[in-house]
Formats: sequence, C-alpha cells, structure tokens
Amino acid sequence: MARLLNRNFILGITGSIAAYKAAELTRDLIREGANVRVVMTEGACGFITPLTMQALSGHDVHMDLLDTDAEAAMGHIELARWADVMLIAPASADSIARLVQGRANDLLGACVLATPAPLFIAPAMNQEMWAKEATQDNIKVLSDRGATVLGPSSGSQACGDVGAGRLLEPALIVEAITETLGTGLLAGRHVVITAGPTREPICPVRYISNRSSGKMGYALAEACVNAGAKTTLISGPVNCSAVDGVHVIAVETTQEMHDASLLAAASADIFIGAAAVVDFKPESVASQKIKRNGVAEMDLRLVPNPDIIATIANSASRPSLVMGFAAETEDVREYARQKLEKKSLDYIFANDVSDASIGFDSDRNAGVLIGQNGNIEMPISTKRILAEAIIGELSRHLD
Ligand code: C5P
Repeated sequence: MARLLNRNFILGITGSIAAYKAAELTRDLIREGANVRVVMTEGACGFITPLTMQALSGHDVHMDLLDTDAEAAMGHIELARWADVMLIAPASADSIARLVQGRANDLLGACVLATPAPLFIAPAMNQEMWAKEATQDNIKVLSDRGATVLGPSSGSQACGDVGAGRLLEPALIVEAITETLGTGLLAGRHVVITAGPTREPICPVRYISNRSSGKMGYALAEACVNAGAKTTLISGPVNCSAVDGVHVIAVETTQEMHDASLLAAASADIFIGAAAVVDFKPESVASQKIKRNGVAEMDLRLVPNPDIIATIANSASRPSLVMGFAAETEDVREYARQKLEKKSLDYIFANDVSDASIGFDSDRNAGVLIGQNGNIEMPISTKRILAEAIIGELSRHLD
C-alpha cells in the first residue's frame, strides 16, 4: 500500500556526510506515493549533487532564495504552502541551531518559517557534536515547539567515532513519519462526507445556492483516503477534483444530498457534514424560464429542506461519530456549540467566515474543533493540513 499517497514533502538536505542517504530516502518516499520537492543548502551540495536529487525526485532542486528564475517557477512561499510535510534529513548541527533562531537568509530556513506543515528533523552529526549541551538544548527547543525529531541512531560514524549521531535509516524515517501522520488509522473504516453547496432550482435556468467551494470537504476526503478509509464523498456542484480512491456521488439539490447521505451513512463509521446545505427551497419549480416582462415584483415562497446531519445523527443506524461544520459570521463558538447540541453531533468545527482570508473559497482555514471532550484550537493553516488534524482527532475517538 502506498502509505504516503498524495502527500507533498519538502525534503531539506543540509551539509552532512549522511546527505547521500537523502537519495535513498527520496526513493522510499516516492515509493510510498509521496510527491517530493528537494531543497538543498549550500553545504549539502558539497556532499551530494543537485543533479542526483533532481533525477530521483523528478523535479528541479531548489537551492537559492534569491534566484529569480526559480522564484518565478515556484517561489519559496508557494513551495512552503504546497508542502504537507517539512522533513529535514540529514539535519546538521548548524542547521538545527539556525532553525532555533528562525533564520531566513537561506531557502531552507525561509521555507521552514513560511510553511504551516509539520516539521520533522532527522539529525546527523559527529557523536560529540550531538552530545554537546548546545545541540541538546536546541533539539529540546525545537521539540517543544512541536517538531518531531527522528533519531539519530547510534553506531560507527564516518569520522571513525562510535556513538549517537548517525542519520536514522531512511526506511525508519519513513516508518516514523507514516506513524506520526496517522497513516492507516482509518483502515477498514468507512467515512461519508458531504461537500460543497447544494442548488435549489427556481426555474430551468435559475437556482438558489451559496458560496461554498467544497475545498474543505474534498480535503477531508483526501485525508480519509490517506488514513486508509473507504471514503464516500457526496458532493454538490464544485470545481474541485477528488483524489484517487474517493468514491464521489455527485448531487445537486438538498433532497438528493439527503437521500444519498442516508443510504451511504447506514454503513459508515464516521459521517462528516462539510456541505453548505441550502436550507430552504422554492415551494414549486417553474417548468419554463420565468420572464421579467410585465412583472413588477415577485414572491418566492420557500419551504424547509431536511436537515441531513441531524437526521443521520438521530437515526437508528447512526455512525459512531458525526461531525458538522458551523460557518458563522458572529458569536462563532456560541452558535457552534448550540448546533452541536441541537443536532446531536459529536464534533463541530466552528469557523468565522466573515474573515475573508479563511473560510469560503479560500485554500486556508482556521477555527476550533468543539467536541464533547473539550475544544481543540486549530490555527490558520491549509485546508489539507487542517483536514489531517481533524481526521487524526476523530480517528482517536472511534470505538
Ligand atoms: O447550515 P448550518 O449552519 O446549520 O450547518 C451546520 C451543519 O449542518 C453543517 O455540518 C451542515 O453540513 C449540516 N447541515 C445539513 N443539512 C442541512 C443544513 C445543515 O446536513 N439542511
């Protein structure tokens, strides 16, 4: 099984004799389905050629912060945003010290600062350097900030010493990352997700809908596939494309989404309502286009649509976990918690859509995951990374 399917890795290589192992690591990551973009420091280029890494990763290697051609192709901010995982292997003593300081005068440092992706560091250095208080303090600072430190392992070193400081074997780095990312956490489980807007026709050419892009629901579906789940995505009309492995059921109206959801949810372990469902529909749909001619005003009588998630959460075949979204423009948490109770949900993700930089149609989002066991703050990040975090949390609470 490709356990890192569709995951975007920035592999940072720094100046260490172990840099040659980054070649094998790249192959291992790609074998697991990951997309790998390599960033090399000047020091790294003294140990392994960018050409080797370009050939193995299948992409140009990024080296300079101030290279206009490279920046035009994929700038460092774009690269940093693209990443789902930031991995530095090997990480030299100097690069670790620079990370602690938050230096950004080389491309790798700038990417680490600019990415919301989780940071993994695989140190490699002489055993004496590893054991030094300065290095140990630096490592502690980075782990306290949330970085995952992989290794080093112990044994004989290139310099002739014996001790801790060897780069963890590439296969073990891949294992540790897949474990931390929660790959396989939903193996054997079925997750049903609704996404996008629904549309309620008024006549053959007009409809009522909303601004939902579907991006959050599609990101959740991707995270579920990556976690090994059978994933059904019931989607309203959107411009997103689902990753391989997602079973997409395209619907248009709320009633269609309702019917497809109820059917699929009967065999689901988790149901996630990420769709922005149109709550009211025209009482009757005109069979011909409604003309303006001679019409001074027009009444549109609306009647309620079914509440999909509430129906599922209260059904006899309720999935173990039911999660909704609350996109609000004021008193976000309060309204979200009320919805959680009213609709009998286990979790609700509350986000403020009055902030234009997140929410509707944005690639980024932020909010708070409210559950029966408390709140988890989720700071601004890409929808992909948020989706991973949400799925990780849900999977830990499945019986
Ligand atoms: O629209 P509202 O803010 O009530 O949406 C909260 C949650 O309920 C969302 O997860 C949404 O997908 C779900 N919902 C639903 N059916 C509706 C309305 C909302 O499943 N008719």
